[in-house]
Amino acid sequence: MALGSAASGYSPVGSPTSQTTTPSAEVAEDPSSEAVEFISAYYAERKMPRAADRIAAILGEIAATGTYWQTPDELAHGAKVAWRQSVRCIGRVRWAGLKIRDRRTVTTTTGIASELAEHLRVADNGGRIRSVLTVFAADHPRTGPRARIWNDQLIRYGGWQLNDEVIGDPAQLEMTSAAVKLGWQPPSTPGRFDLLPWVVETATEEPTLVDAPRHLVREVALTHPDHPWFADLQLRWHALPVIANMRLRIGGVNYSCAPFNGHYLGDEIGTRNMCDADRYNQLRPVAAGLGLDTEDESSLWREHAALLINQAVLHSFRAAGVRISIPNDESEMFMRFCEGEERAGRPVYGDWSWINGSVGWAALHAVHHRYYDTRVPNPNFWPAPRTPFFSEPNLRERHAASRQEG
Ligand code: ARG
Repeated sequence: MALGSAASGYSPVGSPTSQTTTPSAEVAEDPSSEAVEFISAYYAERKMPRAADRIAAILGEIAATGTYWQTPDELAHGAKVAWRQSVRCIGRVRWAGLKIRDRRTVTTTTGIASELAEHLRVADNGGRIRSVLTVFAADHPRTGPRARIWNDQLIRYGGWQLNDEVIGDPAQLEMTSAAVKLGWQPPSTPGRFDLLPWVVETATEEPTLVDAPRHLVREVALTHPDHPWFADLQLRWHALPVIANMRLRIGGVNYSCAPFNGHYLGDEIGTRNMCDADRYNQLRPVAAGLGLDTEDESSLWREHAALLINQAVLHSFRAAGVRISIPNDESEMFMRFCEGEERAGRPVYGDWSWINGSVGWAALHAVHHRYYDTRVPNPNFWPAPRTPFFSEPNLRERHAASRQEG
């Protein structure tokens, strides 16, 4: 599930329409039209009869309660389609293999924390990473999320601003200080790869720190097959990318707490996380190891160093028995996905720049496949509307106020 492929950050995908906004505190969102659309498409795709009966039942339930409970099969189908329609993901050929963990009745911080740990265990699978989604309670149509995870991913390294230097992952500066503010005791000397704790917030509890279970976090030290000095850079990365703050939307229902993972594509680590100037910024140290002339841009020292880091990432993960995708192979598989979608008579949604985000992009199979449908339909995964850190009112206050109003 290479959602995100090689690009970093989670800025909004496409332009959100009214159907994609989160419910505001004042107005309850009516899921009816999207529910009808989703159920019709689901029954048609699976060639199941009597969609009209199910639609009538759902509309009745919405009239009575403002929302509806999706069956486990509807939820699983919707989640798979959400992946299939994720325009930035190059790994979508695997969409039907997504494993869904339906945990909609788990609503406490303790319960969520232990399910998150179990997610890591199931997904890690001894390094043979499986694509997994864990779904917690749906958002309330008026008051919004019943639970949320502040971390953008379940496994991330802290970032520390020391004078004009950042130690660790600069993308995690805000999350790191939020955790500290909530009482996290970081290691006495900040390191470059300090595992961040989780912050879980629910409709009945304040934001709470939870230690990420270190024994379930697999990491890979980066080495290069031809350059022994590469190991001295002491770089490493985690095996699992588990996105924790995107909102899954299926049939008009929002699931703001629905962490999911795939496995890495080499460039996500090798190009973006390691090379970006606002991430680990390793081009110069690697160029120095190679003895390249960094004064002369025409030497392509940056590209040379980036290539070396990407080789190190693929080599190290494979040597450690951790599943990782090679960009050229994955690009070829993405073409299979496109063909499959066309055969099924569906539009191929996609964002070319994300699909071709490899350091060796010029040689990718999908480079010449330029015509994607750039719309972003639901079901889909949507970026967190804003950083939830210390928002006012917090989830508990928001839900409590609405209970009083009745
Ligand atoms: N690019 C993100 C990262 O480096 C991960 C995004 C999800 N990637 C994936 N292969 N499912 O951590």
